[in-house]
Amino acid sequence: MHNIAEPMIDQMTLAQRLGDLQQQRADNWAVTGSHSRPNLHSILRYPAMMVPSMQGDIIELLVDHVATPCRIVDTFVGSGTILTESLLRGLDFTGCDINPLAVLVCEAKIVIDAGANLDLAATVLLSALSSDVGSSVDVGFAGLAKWFTPATSQELSRIRRSILQVEDQGARKVFWTVFAETIRLCSNSRTSTYKLHARRDDSLVASNHVQPIFRENLANTLARAGHYQRLIQGRNAQPSAKVHCADVRSVGFANDDGKHTIVVTSPPYGDNQTTIPYGQFSYLALCWIPEDDLPLELGGFISNTHALDSASLGGSLRGAVDRADRIRGVSPSLDALLDRPEGHPIVKDLRKVASFMADFFDAMCHIRDHLPGRAHWAFTTGNRRAAGRPIPFDSICREMLCYLGARPVTSLRRTLPNKRMPSKNNMGEMITTENTVVVEFA
Ligand SMILES: C[S@@+](CC[C@H](N)C(=O)[O-])C[C@H]1O[C@@H](n2cnc3c(N)ncnc32)[C@H](O)[C@@H]1O
Repeated sequence: MHNIAEPMIDQMTLAQRLGDLQQQRADNWAVTGSHSRPNLHSILRYPAMMVPSMQGDIIELLVDHVATPCRIVDTFVGSGTILTESLLRGLDFTGCDINPLAVLVCEAKIVIDAGANLDLAATVLLSALSSDVGSSVDVGFAGLAKWFTPATSQELSRIRRSILQVEDQGARKVFWTVFAETIRLCSNSRTSTYKLHARRDDSLVASNHVQPIFRENLANTLARAGHYQRLIQGRNAQPSAKVHCADVRSVGFANDDGKHTIVVTSPPYGDNQTTIPYGQFSYLALCWIPEDDLPLELGGFISNTHALDSASLGGSLRGAVDRADRIRGVSPSLDALLDRPEGHPIVKDLRKVASFMADFFDAMCHIRDHLPGRAHWAFTTGNRRAAGRPIPFDSICREMLCYLGARPVTSLRRTLPNKRMPSKNNMGEMITTENTVVVEFA
């Protein structure tokens, strides 16, 4: 792991130390591609994953700076970049995400961290798969025939039945993750976009490629799990890890072990529909994985492709303007963005921004209420454009946290080579930098 200790470190402020870290590590943080996501980091290609080395460096420095036992909380955990970086360092972890697929991936990572023997379970799976010549299709959902050919559905059903032969529930979570990645690669939806969007006929995946793709993904995941388990061999104690599948505004994050809390997260940058449709991205996999093996009863989440995105922050426009007006004075940057002559409505395209910001502030209030006392928070944010204007989410985020009593420490900047945020009209808006806002609650 990167050695961030320097002589005379005690006399440096946290802001100085983070600034030095940025200078020393900027080149490393800018690296992208598969080798920047080692071990468990890319067992599923979830959208908007954070850069592991950068977040790991920040966690390590904050823990070192606090100099008392710490635990890490990620309130928008996604596929668990922070989870992995925390567990690698032996740190207790609590996470939350509304998306059952994201939480399933996190649970798979926790199972691997706890030492699961996947090789034996994989043998059971592969032997069941080799002998399955059944031709039934075991799922039915809106859009099945559009997103999968009958032959592909038969192949996926064979894999699904074979995974169900594995009795070890933990190993099954890992295999469902491999299955989800296979669905992403083999459905008739493009892999170049997170929205469901039909592929051109010449790029459809032939059904006889489905099993080889699954087998290759499985072998890759087993190798990554083995690598990870070797990495944690020297760890002193087994850290605790729990990930809630729920709306962040309903989760209690409090701990009673007296450990210092460091919140490290990357929230959504706006409502899912106009930024990243995490729900739509997950829809097909959630329809294929048996509900009993998912971390949440899906309820209405798969009733249509938008349901999960509508339930996420900023997903509903109901009362958006009133809700945004009620938080006037919290963030000067947000006030300036939504400013309009007395009695005038908010510009139509900014209503979604207003709704998101009101929900986001609710979430911040909830998290702070449940994590009172001294704490450090590091929020990685991106500034997009909406309604033709820049949305200074980093400043809004910092100002909201300061309103809740935080002291700003610093903001770390990372340049992104090519991160696209799809907008409603499919005109990609480039996000070119990411800012990690670090604050301290006394
Ligand atoms: C930027 S992504 C996190 C990605 C993660 N850092 C990673 O490396 O994979 C933001 C996450 O916020 C989640 N989210 C959106 N609204 C939420 C809510 N109300 N409660 C909990 N999670 C929510 C989304 O499902 C998404 O996974």
